[in-house]
Amino acid sequence: MTEAMSPALPDAVAFPQDRTCPYHPPAGYEPLRENRPLSRVTLFDGRSVWVVTGHAEARALLSDARLSSDRTREAFPAATRRFKGIQGRGAALVGVDDPEHNRQRRMLIPSFSVKRMAAMRPQIQETVDRLIDAMVALGTRAELVSSFALPVPSMVICSLLGVPYADHEFFEGQSRRLLRGPEPADVEDARRRLDTYLEALIRQKRTDPGDGLLDELIATRLETGETTVEELVALAVILLIAGHETTANMISLGTFTLLQHPEQLSELRDDPSLMSEAVEELMRFLSIADGMLRVATQEIEVAGVTIRPDEGVVFSTSVINRDEAVFEEPDSLAWNRPTRHHLAFGFGIHQCLGQNLARAEMEIALGTLFRRLPGLRLAADPDEIPFKPGDTIQGMFELPVAW
Ligand code: HEM
Repeated sequence: MTEAMSPALPDAVAFPQDRTCPYHPPAGYEPLRENRPLSRVTLFDGRSVWVVTGHAEARALLSDARLSSDRTREAFPAATRRFKGIQGRGAALVGVDDPEHNRQRRMLIPSFSVKRMAAMRPQIQETVDRLIDAMVALGTRAELVSSFALPVPSMVICSLLGVPYADHEFFEGQSRRLLRGPEPADVEDARRRLDTYLEALIRQKRTDPGDGLLDELIATRLETGETTVEELVALAVILLIAGHETTANMISLGTFTLLQHPEQLSELRDDPSLMSEAVEELMRFLSIADGMLRVATQEIEVAGVTIRPDEGVVFSTSVINRDEAVFEEPDSLAWNRPTRHHLAFGFGIHQCLGQNLARAEMEIALGTLFRRLPGLRLAADPDEIPFKPGDTIQGMFELPVAW
């Protein structure tokens, strides 16, 4: 307990915890909802950190430069044991502070603009159609994660970056190890293999350029001396991983959630123009990236408490996005919400760079899936379908469906 803690706060809750239902926050987070906007949680190593659960406070703190994302800092908290494996190594963009962060982000912003992403829509549509054609050609049942939810974003990010999709089994497998271990050694080894793979790809592209974003960055930033091979590799790793794992989980968990909410699904079927609103609401409701981490570099007064230097701070998006002060009846899935200000893509300088791409992929993937397969249904008991544990990005391991 720190001096700043009010005695009214409950005993620290463990964080992260597994969800009991794949689309609701863990039941064990109930005390955090009751103690908005800030309370304490205990991490796997017994360390006590602040947890932010109020929407307004989260926006303020995610914009506060006194909280650092630099995971090479000694005091930076680790949410899981396996991340100790790469803690000292840092990560581009998401793991650096301004001004370095700003310099890295400025190199990429033009490639992720709304306009550029709109231009990718026909290609995303074509990919989605091709994958559904292949599913239909094979019969009336499929495992949706491997046949659709994962390949859609994986193919799209490969084409955007200029990474050969033929290597997808390698980089998908290593991303899985990087995000889920199980051991710190797996995480470290996966990171090393991805670095080696992308470094070789960049070397090859320097002599034999293609037309992806990596080729563009090589020509305009690397050959000009604005960046180094090491930095470009680090940027490529984060883009490749963030570009497929997250959206794949949203497509699988989004499909499961819609099938479990037939009323909302039928509203969507009757009026497909609701799709972009539905994607936004699914982002809020599912909050698959639950637990952004920071460390304080200076004292911060917020909501009557003092966060001290070197104290860890975690943002529980699943709880923040169900703050009654902002979202009416936050535990229900509804397409007509007046506000879209969920924090599922983060907020502040690190707000998701790929959000326009992710939105386009989700709208096209979910919209086309339910339009082309009107009889889509789960092909297993929902309670038996395996979903991911709380210490990683939330989603389904498998999703057996029939139509
Ligand atoms: C639905 C899918 C996605 C979700 C839920 C998601 C979520 C997030 C969140 C919460 C953050 C902020 C992390 C923090 O503040 O610590 C973030 C950052 C980021 N995301 Fe996404 N993301 C998604 C899709 C994508 C895609 C498709 C890309 C494509 C390249 C991408 C690339 C990035 C990058 C590069 C950052 C770091 C930005 C920075 O630090 O400036 N994401 N994402």
